[in-house]
Amino acid sequence: MAKIILTGDRPTGRLHIGHYVGSLRRRVQLQNTGDFDEIYIMIADAQALTDNMENPGKVRDNIVEVALDYLAAGLDPARSSLFIQSQIPELTELSFYYMNLVTVARLQRNPTVKSEIQMRNFENSIPVGFFTYPISQAADITAFKATTVPVGEDQEPMIEQTREIVRKFNFVYGDTLVEPEILLPENEASMRLPGTDGQAKMSKSLGNCIYLSDDAATVKKKVMSMFTDPGHLQISDPGKIEGNTVFTYLDAFSNKGHFEEYLPEYQDLEELKAHYRRGGLGDVKVKKFLNNVLQETLEPIRKRRAEYEKDIAYVYEVLRKGSETAENKAAGTLSEVRHAMRIDYFDDEELIRSQQAYFNDRAAREQEGRRPRRGGKR
Ligand code: TRP
Repeated sequence: MAKIILTGDRPTGRLHIGHYVGSLRRRVQLQNTGDFDEIYIMIADAQALTDNMENPGKVRDNIVEVALDYLAAGLDPARSSLFIQSQIPELTELSFYYMNLVTVARLQRNPTVKSEIQMRNFENSIPVGFFTYPISQAADITAFKATTVPVGEDQEPMIEQTREIVRKFNFVYGDTLVEPEILLPENEASMRLPGTDGQAKMSKSLGNCIYLSDDAATVKKKVMSMFTDPGHLQISDPGKIEGNTVFTYLDAFSNKGHFEEYLPEYQDLEELKAHYRRGGLGDVKVKKFLNNVLQETLEPIRKRRAEYEKDIAYVYEVLRKGSETAENKAAGTLSEVRHAMRIDYFDDEELIRSQQAYFNDRAAREQEGRRPRRGGKR
């Protein structure tokens, strides 16, 4: 079976380093292994509209920002189709059919939907489109027959819901859809990168993000004012690693090469952590190291972004071509789905012949005064 990746992001802002370690870095690695037959990376504008229906301008403006972040991070249009969700009408049609396979109660149990409803104060009045977005996400994934979906942990309930829809569909209509596997980030820190203020999540509204597109001075300023261990007042004090954002970021970003390059007096992160725990290691030194690590990671991304920013027409051309490729694939799946659901009337050459035979037979029997044959049309 072909190995196929589908994943994506909502265009509600520029991508930050939480997106990067949570999924984007992995996508680029997977792309570069050459192990996958097809890779689709989607900008989920239709999904973004399910809770931004009054903000179409925000969604529209962020398409190009996300596309720039994708290209800057190293997604290569020659190997990965970058596309815009709303340009693939097949996805909407699939969603409509899948709605019959999911109950309201099941959607209400989806933990991600549950917490988003709370976050957005939708408790008393949930837009239907928002409520059903897990179904549309199942359409996104299955339309491409994706086998692998690299996403953050928060998307786990969506993939589980997709797998249920696939099983139900295949059971009712016959084997058609492919059950996808989730691919989570490789370590805990990358799974849940906290904000620079130590809050559980990086989010634009909290103002605690480091963006892939931040310039070097901004990154440095954000790093130097990051949350650490509030109990670590003097350099000589023993410090805590747990919940210490600077060390969480180092878990997600640093490697042994970084130590050789910027902090050769330590072998690796374990040694640095041990010194911090013992006492005698100041926050500023650790932050400066983290800044070096982040700058090394972000500098090439920033440079590539600046290049692509000079040619926005090219960026849209990438998206247009990617959307064309994506639509072809989705159309193929949709016609299999229509066939399985027996709504492929005009493509079924047997349909007219067999129904004509039925009516002919009925007319003949009526003329002869016989009862119509039981069973009727096929
Ligand atoms: N829900 C994802 C997010 O909020 C975006 C998304 C939409 C997606 N459809 C998808 C991710 C399909 C993976 C697969 O970031």
